[in-house]
Amino acid sequence: MERYIVKGGRPLEGEVEISGAKNAALPILAAAIMTDETVVIENLPDVKDINVLIDAISKLGATVVREGRHRVKISGKTINSVCADNEYIKKMRASYYLLGALLGKYKKAEVSMPGGCNLGTRAIDQHIKGFTLLGADVNIEYGKIIAQTKELKGNHVFFDTVSVGATINIMLAAALAKGMTILENVAKEPHIVDVANMLNSMGANIKGAGTDVIRIKGVEKLHGTEYSVIPDQIEAGTFMCAAAVTRGNILVKNVIPKHLEAISAKLYEIGCSVEEYDDAVRVIGNTKLSGTQIKTLPYPGFPTDMQPQMTVTLATAGGISTVIESIFDNRFKYVDELTLMGAKIKVEGNVAVVEGVEMLKGAQVNALDLRAGAALVLAGLGADGFTVVEDIHFIQRGYEDFPLKLTKLGATIAVVNDEKEIQKFKFKTA
Ligand code: EPZ
Repeated sequence: MERYIVKGGRPLEGEVEISGAKNAALPILAAAIMTDETVVIENLPDVKDINVLIDAISKLGATVVREGRHRVKISGKTINSVCADNEYIKKMRASYYLLGALLGKYKKAEVSMPGGCNLGTRAIDQHIKGFTLLGADVNIEYGKIIAQTKELKGNHVFFDTVSVGATINIMLAAALAKGMTILENVAKEPHIVDVANMLNSMGANIKGAGTDVIRIKGVEKLHGTEYSVIPDQIEAGTFMCAAAVTRGNILVKNVIPKHLEAISAKLYEIGCSVEEYDDAVRVIGNTKLSGTQIKTLPYPGFPTDMQPQMTVTLATAGGISTVIESIFDNRFKYVDELTLMGAKIKVEGNVAVVEGVEMLKGAQVNALDLRAGAALVLAGLGADGFTVVEDIHFIQRGYEDFPLKLTKLGATIAVVNDEKEIQKFKFKTA
């Protein structure tokens, strides 16, 4: 089993180039099959979840040509199945975007119940509510969601909770519904806007993405396009925290600084220097950081996907910090792992109280999910001694070349397979 070994205690310095946003690229790939014409997608991150979805799309019968690591050409003309239920797709959350895309185009879709990182309850009632309001019959049978209708009709959908997935999914289906759909209480994340822009470049008529109300005037059909995915806000934030945790100096390049404002503001507040450029952000982690309060919220609030990385940052900041997780009901499981590294954190329900310690200490820890895994790597980089992070397949789902990018910043990190390789790494880097 692959794992990372990290030798910590060294400030990370230099420049890092951010890849395309996974959570924008996933629905964009699904949208690509909504036309019979060719769609070219650029700036795709080369990560496991993206590759699995591309594979699932080709299994539906679409013609998929990988034109390099970050570019794919897709033609939905050859699709001969509306059923996506292979083994890995079941473990992915974003598989549900195939429901919106297939239902919009073919008026029928069968997709395995979505999996994804275990962050607590991850309901899909708002997706079902939206599809039903557009006129689809939605049933769950043998672990599959089956949605079908003769005709999708625009409607007024007021979401009961702000959901990234449901907002995007209903937007996908409504793009090809008859008449006007109005979505209210929607998510406003940068990837919502990116998906709307991509659909509009295919001939959809979507207005208001990024605001509280999205208006979609259904069109008869969509056409081909060439589209480049936005940079990954969370990968960028992770490297910004890496500068803070290791007291380093990192220029995070190829970003949209506006998308990072909630993260930049918190890092500045705790004592980091943060410089914003047109498409880059520099973070300098000063030696003395102070604690703060964080509450995760839908965009433009502080992103839940940055909560573990920020908690690790606060684990060695002075004083007491509180972190409130308000999006997911069980996103603090990694705290037990951090405690093994000497962090002083108490969790009560959805609140973590962090008492900053001088320094973390290396340990053997498990990456329990994607962002928690990345956060533990950051903890290892800032810690004294060696840290082994197990279950790195979670991290590989969403971070392209994570160890390589860190190595270029001066980190001492390697992928190892067994105890012998761990000992060799320790010997070489001692
Ligand atoms: C997306 O998940 C992201 N995943 C998550 O990123 C991210 O944490 C999350 O949005 C919040 O920003 C992808 O884009 C693939 P939600 P999603 O629907 O769409 C509740 C990562 O690390 N809810 O906005 O599943 C739900 O239980 C991943 O990259 C309902 O109650 O999130 C949760 O409490 C992890 N009913 C809250 O809403 C529904 O029908 C937000 O979920 C849908 C959601």
